[in-house]
Amino acid sequence: SAAEKGGWPSFMKKEIAEEPDAVANTLRGRTHDGAVALPELDGVAEALSGINRVLVLGCGTAAYAGMVGKYAIEAWARIPVDVELSHEFRYRDPVLDEHTLVVSVSQSGETMDTLMAVRYAREQGARTLSICNTQGATIPRESDAVLYTHAGPEVAVASTKAFVAQVTALYLLGLHLATLRGTLDADAVAAQLTELEAVPTKIQRVVEASSARIAELAHWMSDTQSVLFLGRHVGFPVALEGALKLKELAYIHAEGFAAGELKHGPIALIEPGQIVFVVVPSPRDPSSLHKKVVSNIQEIRARGARVIAIAELGDVAVVPFADEVIRIPLAAPFFEPLLSVVPLHVFGMELATAKGLDVDQPRNLAKSVTVE
Ligand code: G6P
Repeated sequence: SAAEKGGWPSFMKKEIAEEPDAVANTLRGRTHDGAVALPELDGVAEALSGINRVLVLGCGTAAYAGMVGKYAIEAWARIPVDVELSHEFRYRDPVLDEHTLVVSVSQSGETMDTLMAVRYAREQGARTLSICNTQGATIPRESDAVLYTHAGPEVAVASTKAFVAQVTALYLLGLHLATLRGTLDADAVAAQLTELEAVPTKIQRVVEASSARIAELAHWMSDTQSVLFLGRHVGFPVALEGALKLKELAYIHAEGFAAGELKHGPIALIEPGQIVFVVVPSPRDPSSLHKKVVSNIQEIRARGARVIAIAELGDVAVVPFADEVIRIPLAAPFFEPLLSVVPLHVFGMELATAKGLDVDQPRNLAKSVTVE
């Protein structure tokens, strides 16, 4: 009802505006003196110290949050992390044992594909941890432990604020595992937590600084047939999430690619006028990824693509090659996806709005898919 929306034109607009709080509330009470405090995992402390592998399961946006988490958990806790779609995992005779930690990610905690995957993992002897946004839902009830995200109720069918809360929870888990395993010292953990605690304010700035411009862009693009998204490293799942939002909300053909994969196929899709969003890594990152992504932009631009770059404030190298640059505040590499995803959420919503569609209730979709 209009009252529940509290004056917002849609639940989705309200929920995107709540992304800063989704992160802040998921962090609240879970850090103490620069360390991670997750008493809800005390019961599985012994199990966690015995694991040699993490497997993250989810569907849709939850799986993309898992993909972002993989990069950070591997880097921090030095443990192999795989991410799989729940429905693919369940039916391929996977190898797992009591040293495998299966982390399910689900906003609703009721997605049948993920529930069946968790049940199967338990039967195989794996340890199960649920990252869930809904108190008392079936998946957390059937798991060994639960780490709740505190994004607040998400009503719009397509997930937005749950994504940033899920990444936050996965990062807390990664830093917790890094502490248990001694792979990061106390100062390094504290430094990452300081970065994480700065995220809500930065998301707020992204929403405020970019929403009006994105609404304009979306308006101009309302008859667009296809949009591509490129990203690399943690920007890759962000590209997938940006594409998913356009499919779900605006019914536009959209695809996300790993930027490094461009030359292995997708570049053949580029023809004059093709709109491509590019999630650009920070030029301050010691890896050479920024340079590589900028040269990808040059390659697609030379073939006529219209490039909308999502880049850090002060990154001047992209300016000559992009038709449009959406700015995000400076953050350490692992924290960029929590910022760069926000303009893509806004874009999906605005394009659907420009097309006169119902952003909260897209056709053919259900908020929680309780059938396999
Ligand atoms: C549905 C929704 C998606 C969501 C997915 C997973 O398909 O339309 O937005 O990402 O389910 O939902 P879950 O509740 O498991 O996070």
